[in-house]
Amino acid sequence: MNDFTVQIHGAEDGESFRQREGHRSLLRSALHAGVGFPYECHSGGCGSCRFELLEGEVDVLWPQAPGLTDRDRRRNRYLACQCVARSDIRIKVTATAPYRPKVPPRVFRARFVEASQVTHDITEFRFVGEGPAEFLPGQYALMQLPGVEGARAYSMSNTPNPQGEWHFQIRRVLTGKGSTYLMEHLRPGDSLEVDGPYGLAFLRTESPRDIVCVAGGSGLAPVVSIARGAAEAGMLDSRQLHFFYGGRAPRDICGDHFLRRLPGYSERIQYYPIVSLPEEGSDSVWKGEIGFVHELVRRTLAGRLKDLEFYFAGPPPMSQALQEMLMVEYQVPFEQIHFDRFF
Ligand SMILES: Cc1cc2nc3c(=O)[nH]c(=O)nc-3n(C[C@H](O)[C@H](O)[C@H](O)COP(=O)(O)OP(=O)(O)OC[C@H]3O[C@@H](n4cnc5c(N)ncnc54)[C@H](O)[C@@H]3O)c2cc1C
Ligand code: FES
Repeated sequence: MNDFTVQIHGAEDGESFRQREGHRSLLRSALHAGVGFPYECHSGGCGSCRFELLEGEVDVLWPQAPGLTDRDRRRNRYLACQCVARSDIRIKVTATAPYRPKVPPRVFRARFVEASQVTHDITEFRFVGEGPAEFLPGQYALMQLPGVEGARAYSMSNTPNPQGEWHFQIRRVLTGKGSTYLMEHLRPGDSLEVDGPYGLAFLRTESPRDIVCVAGGSGLAPVVSIARGAAEAGMLDSRQLHFFYGGRAPRDICGDHFLRRLPGYSERIQYYPIVSLPEEGSDSVWKGEIGFVHELVRRTLAGRLKDLEFYFAGPPPMSQALQEMLMVEYQVPFEQIHFDRFF
């Protein structure tokens, strides 16, 4: 692959950038160049990075990516996270400053050090990368895994640090290629290509509001990072943090273990677990809340929702239910709601 120029028609933020040799997607080239190209998942699922090709040619990396419809394809639209330029190109997309990376992403090698079990299907993986680990709490990185097509996005569960430590809490997906590679084939000492940080659902330290973290399934890591980041930044001296975790069954419940180590636990930090199937996979009787996590948020915080800062991560149905409840039913201002959908 050679370097190619990408011209953006009608751009508000960055009129052109170079797709450099070795960059794995047009989107990564744009963000590495500091251009505010719209995106969310980097995984071909959300469609946020869609653009129209006006001139030139691109190679599509994952033709079946669900983030594009057939209509999009007929209209010469592509996903920037799933294509690379094959010539100089001209494209139409609305690039805007909020998408410009706050911490410049970089590609580096990270060495796998150790893993520990969080639940029956979530494992924490600890890596050490070259140089300091610079990211904002709540962000994610892209991993290139041997024998796996495309990158996989994983959120950091720790906070930025000079030692270069990157911690990820990864849920096993039964037929999943990336998570199976990590759980079954990765050995201490192995190193992987990592690219990041990315993501817009990062901790807003300037917000004066109390914080609500909501996670379901594999969404644990970014909200643990948000809670840790808020504690480290001294935000919890003057704010409350409400942490909700929704699982399918009692054995899925997690998160409390990490919060207990933070100063202010139980005074300034409250933890609320809920399961939707209390009898599944467990011999003991679940005595806690039953239902969906967004309903528990409503029951616990109704009346105050408009005054809070929300961070959430998890499966698309959970994110969808929370968005509808907060934005449509309770008209919580959009600027107070931060999430990256997991695909
Ligand atoms: C922003 C974000 C943050 C995430 N953070 C976490 C986290 O902290 N912990 C966690 O457990 N999971 C996280 N995920 C989910 C994670 O990225 C994977 O989707 C999940 O681990 C399943 O991957 P898999 O390879 O095991 O499954 P698979 O079914 O093999 O792959 C599913 C994923 O790979 C993508 N994909 C599939 N085929 C291709 C292809 N040919 N080319 C390119 N992409 C392809 C899909 O869009 C999907 O994201 C996150 C996802 C996103 C978008
Ligand atoms: S960012 Fe490309 S489809 Fe989500």
